[in-house]
Amino acid sequence: MYDFYTDYYRRAMASPAYGEFCTRVFGANYTQHGFADMAAVDRLIHAGELDATHRILELGCGSGGIAAYIAATTGAHVTGIDYIPEAVRQAQAHVDAAPGRLRFEVADIATLPYPAASFTAVVAIDTLYFTDLDATLAQLKRILTASGQLLAYYAQGANPQTPVERFDRSTLAPACTDLGRALHRQGFAFETWDVTGADVRHARRKRAVLEELRPAFAAEGTLSLYENRLGEANGVLAAWEAGCHARYLYRAIPL
Ligand SMILES: C[S@@+](CC[C@H](N)C(=O)[O-])C[C@H]1O[C@@H](n2cnc3c(N)ncnc32)[C@H](O)[C@@H]1O
Repeated sequence: MYDFYTDYYRRAMASPAYGEFCTRVFGANYTQHGFADMAAVDRLIHAGELDATHRILELGCGSGGIAAYIAATTGAHVTGIDYIPEAVRQAQAHVDAAPGRLRFEVADIATLPYPAASFTAVVAIDTLYFTDLDATLAQLKRILTASGQLLAYYAQGANPQTPVERFDRSTLAPACTDLGRALHRQGFAFETWDVTGADVRHARRKRAVLEELRPAFAAEGTLSLYENRLGEANGVLAAWEAGCHARYLYRAIPL
């Protein structure tokens, strides 16, 4: 994934077609590579009651626009981390969105370099698929304050690794997803919001906008971006049609 994302952030930032895709699908161009549009980010801010009293860590912040938006909207201090130096380099362009309250660092989710009780909230938007969940949650318990919270968008579903015919549908319940079970093992209480419907609408919108923009991607020689995002949207829709896809917003607190 490291090489994929290094290449992705370079190409996405330089692509006007990809910028247009993000603006139309997500509501803002932050070279997103997830499934959370700006309405979903607002929902997360609302669920966590994030405000100026918070110190927030965003895991897998990519090119930083969502962290900047959260800092500007809430007044909180926000640190964004990603393990791709190119993404963090791009993210630095946002620091003036919240002067003195926004910073970005190259760091790996697997080894978070922060002292105990550093943050009141950790945000993870489509990033917890790339790490050992138990080891990561144990670290989050350490770096969160006693009343801290994890806010995470997480999808569970059939994919190329676990196709529909081998997918266990009992794992679609929020307590039974890979994240739900790891939260339970690691001693977190949690509540969830089912955002599967919004996710399906988002995937359909992605597919429609991509089809409209295909000539623009072809003209600038970035069809690989088009194909990556189309494949992802088609994967979600195929899994959902087979009854093998769910997506949740988790709000988890250490016990
Ligand atoms: C699916 S993208 C989501 C990006 C962003 N949160 C969004 O919604 O657009 C996953 C992000 O996690 C980052 N990532 C993956 N594994 C990581 C790790 N072990 N440590 C830090 N960042 C990681 C990737 O570089 C990428 O930016």
